[in-house]
Amino acid sequence: MPCTVIVGAFWGDEGKGKISSYLALKDNLDFCVRTGSVNAAHTVWFEGKKFALHMVPAAFLNPKTRLLIAAGANIHVPQFFKEVELTQVDKTRMGIDQGASIIEEKHSEQDKASAINKGIGTTGWGVGPAIEERVRRTAKLAKDIPELKPYLTDGVQEVNDGLDEGKSVLLEGTQGFMLSLFLSGGYPYVTGRDTGASAIASEAGVGPTRVDDVLIVYKSFITRVGGGPLPGEITREEALKRGWFEVAAGTGRERRSAPFDFELAWKNAKVNGATQAAMTKLDVIYPSCRGARKYDDLPKEAKDFIREVEAKTGVPVVLIGTGPEALDIIDRRE
Ligand code: IMP
Ligand code: MG
Repeated sequence: MPCTVIVGAFWGDEGKGKISSYLALKDNLDFCVRTGSVNAAHTVWFEGKKFALHMVPAAFLNPKTRLLIAAGANIHVPQFFKEVELTQVDKTRMGIDQGASIIEEKHSEQDKASAINKGIGTTGWGVGPAIEERVRRTAKLAKDIPELKPYLTDGVQEVNDGLDEGKSVLLEGTQGFMLSLFLSGGYPYVTGRDTGASAIASEAGVGPTRVDDVLIVYKSFITRVGGGPLPGEITREEALKRGWFEVAAGTGRERRSAPFDFELAWKNAKVNGATQAAMTKLDVIYPSCRGARKYDDLPKEAKDFIREVEAKTGVPVVLIGTGPEALDIIDRRE
């Protein structure tokens, strides 16, 4: 704080939505800017209710947080309105940067019809084709859509003015660093954009010198959906046995899984310039952690795991997720 970037460490679904919603409530965030597009779903649980968000920032739980969608983002208009309805955010606190581009039904059709995209296992929302169209300079922008008019803003100016005034800003990254188009080394099994911390700041229009913290989000085991390598992958049966088996919030697809990878965690902390880390789903690998709110209440093996992550990555693990609810967190910040 005041300006923090949240970046996913692996192939997405690390629990960035939960961390963002926690910080919104706990730190009483002034701004939260969501980047990326509709292919990423951020899950927020609050008071027993589940929200799977593809467009609205997960920080919506705090009614005082100004919610923005970044200039570099791609807006899926029907999904946006569905989520406005679901989250009940009103026009005065939800803003869309006028220069964000629009993802249309034809992009989804193009995505689904592409043989290469089938092999990659894209989400089918059409984000790749929408980005192609934007690069061709033929895309529609948010300012071209009459229904979006009440939400339009200069998000870049708002967020930079906010920083000038000392307001707190969270830049909500989507997907995971290992899906980065440029930096993951996983091409072509990647998404259509750079998902790293610098790109998140860039999409929101925040210069690198204005970012104070990069919070890398680790999950205590690794999951991936779609094609491409997953080092250390275990079988579906083994995942079920260990309680790691997950189904994607957005697409309903089964996730593949693998154990935590210390080498990858170290490398990605470095490339993203992480200053802090969050570890989610600790209760999935150590069930006796469930619901813990104090570090001292963790069993020895869980503390040993956290210590090993800190030793091997050089980054302090400041937030630890111990259950699905937004407030199921051990907060070790001062
Ligand atoms: P696309 O982003 O829909 O083009 O899909 C490209 C690859 O990224 C596929 O392997 C998807 O499964 C994966 N992917 C895209 N968004 C997410 C996400 O939010 N979580 C996990 N995987 C994702
Ligand atoms: Mg997700």
